[in-house]
Amino acid sequence: MKKIIIINGPNLNLLGKRETNIYGNLTFMEFFDTVVKKYPDVELEHFQSNIEGELIDKLQEVGFTYDGIVINAAAYTHTSVGIGDAVKAITTPVVEVHISNTFSREEFRHQSYISPNAKGVILGFGLQSYELAIESFI
Ligand code: DQA
Repeated sequence: MKKIIIINGPNLNLLGKRETNIYGNLTFMEFFDTVVKKYPDVELEHFQSNIEGELIDKLQEVGFTYDGIVINAAAYTHTSVGIGDAVKAITTPVVEVHISNTFSREEFRHQSYISPNAKGVILGFGLQSYELAIESFI
């Protein structure tokens, strides 16, 4: 069974009540429950933190043994050399996802420290971005 983890960064714990015009009305756990049911042959985990170092710790912890990492580093995507370096350091392939199309938003969201070392990037498909990323691993 493939082991895949979704790692979510800051403020994504507020999905469902945060800027719902951009991020939608579903909480992440509501969405995650449907995805877990949809992929019974995948061992799927979820980790969320608002703290940069905890995201790096998690990448290091899973990044040499899991089959795939789906990461939405949220705002840290655009600022964190540390998360970018962690993605570079590990051996598990990483797919970067974003709910919104970051290229249609403010210019500071066009920069990503993760993309250069990601296997691929999926953005702009709402929560379906996560599902497309999971599909890419199976
Ligand atoms: C986001 C886009 C980021 O620019 C933003 O800071 C987020 C969410 C997205 O999923 O669309 O928090 O990563």
